[in-house]
Amino acid sequence: MAQLNLSFLLKSSLFVLIALTCVSGKHYRATKLIAKNSFLTAKVDSESINESQEYEVYNYTQTLDHFNFNPESYTTFQQRYVVNSKYWGGPTNSSPIFLYVGAESDIMGDVEYNGFEHVIASRFKGLLVYIEHRYYGTSMPFGSYDEAYKNANTLGYFTSEQALADYAQIIIDVKKNMSAVNCPVIAIGASYGGMLASWFRMKYPHAAYGALAVSAPILYFMGLTPENGYASVVSKDFNSTSTSCYKTIRESWFEIDRVGAQPQGMLNLSQTFNTCTPVNTTKLLKYHLEIIYDVMAQYDDPTVNYLQTFCNATDAAGEGTYILDRIMAGYRSVAETNCITLFDMGFNNKSGWDWQSCTEMVMPMGQGENDTMFQANPFNLGEYTKECQQVFGVTPRPYWAPIEFGGYGIKTVLEKFASNIIFSNGLRDPYSSGGVLQNISDTVVAIYTQEGHHCSDLLTPMATDPDWLVEQRNKEINIIEGWLSKYTFANAN
Ligand SMILES: *[C@@H]1O[C@H](CO)[C@@H](O)[C@H](O)[C@H]1NC(C)=O
Ligand SMILES: *[C@@H]1O[C@H](CO)[C@@H](O)[C@H](O)[C@H]1NC(C)=O
Ligand SMILES: *[C@@H]1O[C@H](CO)[C@@H](O)[C@H](O)[C@H]1NC(C)=O
Ligand SMILES: *[C@@H]1O[C@H](CO)[C@@H](O)[C@H](O)[C@H]1NC(C)=O
Ligand SMILES: *[C@@H]1O[C@H](CO)[C@@H](O)[C@H](O)[C@H]1NC(C)=O
Ligand SMILES: *[C@@H]1O[C@H](CO)[C@@H](O)[C@H](O)[C@H]1NC(C)=O
Ligand SMILES: *[C@@H]1O[C@H](CO)[C@@H](O)[C@H](O)[C@H]1NC(C)=O
Ligand SMILES: *[C@@H]1O[C@H](CO)[C@@H](O)[C@H](O)[C@H]1NC(C)=O
Ligand SMILES: *[C@@H]1O[C@H](CO)[C@@H](O)[C@H](O)[C@H]1NC(C)=O
Ligand SMILES: *[C@@H]1O[C@H](CO)[C@@H](O)[C@H](O)[C@H]1NC(C)=O
Repeated sequence: MAQLNLSFLLKSSLFVLIALTCVSGKHYRATKLIAKNSFLTAKVDSESINESQEYEVYNYTQTLDHFNFNPESYTTFQQRYVVNSKYWGGPTNSSPIFLYVGAESDIMGDVEYNGFEHVIASRFKGLLVYIEHRYYGTSMPFGSYDEAYKNANTLGYFTSEQALADYAQIIIDVKKNMSAVNCPVIAIGASYGGMLASWFRMKYPHAAYGALAVSAPILYFMGLTPENGYASVVSKDFNSTSTSCYKTIRESWFEIDRVGAQPQGMLNLSQTFNTCTPVNTTKLLKYHLEIIYDVMAQYDDPTVNYLQTFCNATDAAGEGTYILDRIMAGYRSVAETNCITLFDMGFNNKSGWDWQSCTEMVMPMGQGENDTMFQANPFNLGEYTKECQQVFGVTPRPYWAPIEFGGYGIKTVLEKFASNIIFSNGLRDPYSSGGVLQNISDTVVAIYTQEGHHCSDLLTPMATDPDWLVEQRNKEINIIEGWLSKYTFANAN
């Protein structure tokens, strides 16, 4: 696994990309920008991937539908989970169990990657249990991916509620089998997995004693977070990197429109941007650029420095250079130099995250006029719904997630009913706009940094990490230590 092509990430739709993944930041962390072809082809950080981890892979015979008793509900499938007992102090000491909450990808990527959870487990002599989310990796109902993803009937059991129930079922069973019923469980997750981790603590307090929710935008739902939250942070990231670069991007959209409207204009744009096939709508081109800016901002960790690299190149081209050539100078500094393939814009019925986006995980993202560096593009629930109906034959329920998991009046509610949750964020992560950024009580706390990006703190700790990151992780460890010191068997079930 010397080189990994990140183009899979860039090929997916906007909804996947701004989808909640830690993937490019986490598993395929780019070591550094290698001139000219680093963005799409990043080197795996060999310090972070450890193929000689000590772990066991198991299947659990899981119930298809936890929430009703009609005959089909009793159907089962094989759900994958992984146990790493390298650090474990064993049940007699009530050593903790860290439940690593699987999210929207194959769990083995998380298992083989030496993330921060190893430091936590090692610090507290914890058992690491990774559980794969249903409908991802090998955890496929109906026997195979093709059968599971056949249609809306087979996909219908693909919900966050079922996933949380799966986790409860497995973790309670694992504890029993390991004679570890007295051991506290702490859920750890990032991005969508972080949302699940915090919800798991709220919904199953008897199964999890606490949760570390990294970069978890649990408030990015209808009516809770301004829809331009994501794009605003991307804009702020660029502006604070270089105001002139920000202005160049902001003005470039109008130039693309102006040129595109001229005779031969589309041909001009195809040449200027060196697209692999001729561009026939400016919309697609602008969309492509927008995604590139989003992804760079989301994963702009200090080791990669996408924004600074991009803006240096854009600014170096100088005011006298044609504006779209300045954009391309930036683009070439972070991306592959051969021709650009524009993204497909729509939902894809082979994508698990797209199914989730078309059902419960409706995160309204858009922007108004002049409120970001992008052109106006308000979230349009009508069109979104129509597309989901066409692609999956399903109608989204955009208000369901905040009803099921909470969100309205979250401060009062969590203050009165919740405890032992860390919401960690980096404010340069566009998703932080939908995160919990306030301390709610003594034990429901927000640990954020000004500098961090998406999932920064869950990355493998390295000697070169900046102080703010070291400090953030230390705070998290201290808080978990505080919880564990107060744990008594009475809290367990
Ligand atoms: C990888 O894991 C093995 C076994 O757990 C350990 O001995 C080794 O030091 C690890 N290597 C790295 C680079 O972390
Ligand atoms: C788990 O189940 C999957 C799917 O049925 C199967 O491919 C895999 O070999 C099983 N793994 C183990 C460890 O039993
Ligand atoms: C996905 O789309 C293809 C082509 O339109 C269709 O044949 C297939 O049934 C669809 N699958 C789902 C899950 O809707
Ligand atoms: C616990 O043990 C039972 C009986 O051996 C087994 O069927 C079950 O799969 C085990 N559960 C887990 C989570 O290992
Ligand atoms: C961009 O940054 C400049 C300089 O820091 C600041 O004065 C300006 O208000 C910022 N603009 C936006 C839209 O954030
Ligand atoms: C495209 O149009 C712009 C502005 O009109 C012009 O400066 C540029 O040279 C043209 N590029 C090509 C490749 O024709
Ligand atoms: C526009 O280009 C795309 C991709 O090259 C092509 O699939 C599509 O048919 C074109 N549309 C028109 C109206 O020419
Ligand atoms: C950007 O340019 C500045 C000033 O020339 C330089 O100090 C810095 O190293 C450059 N950063 C990157 C990531 O290229
Ligand atoms: C947005 O900015 C442009 C250019 O500065 C200006 O012409 C336009 O009136 C602004 N629109 C709104 C709604 O403020
Ligand atoms: C929340 O409290 C912790 C201490 O428990 C502190 O480190 C952190 O900075 C506080 N966060 C905010 C947003 O005030």
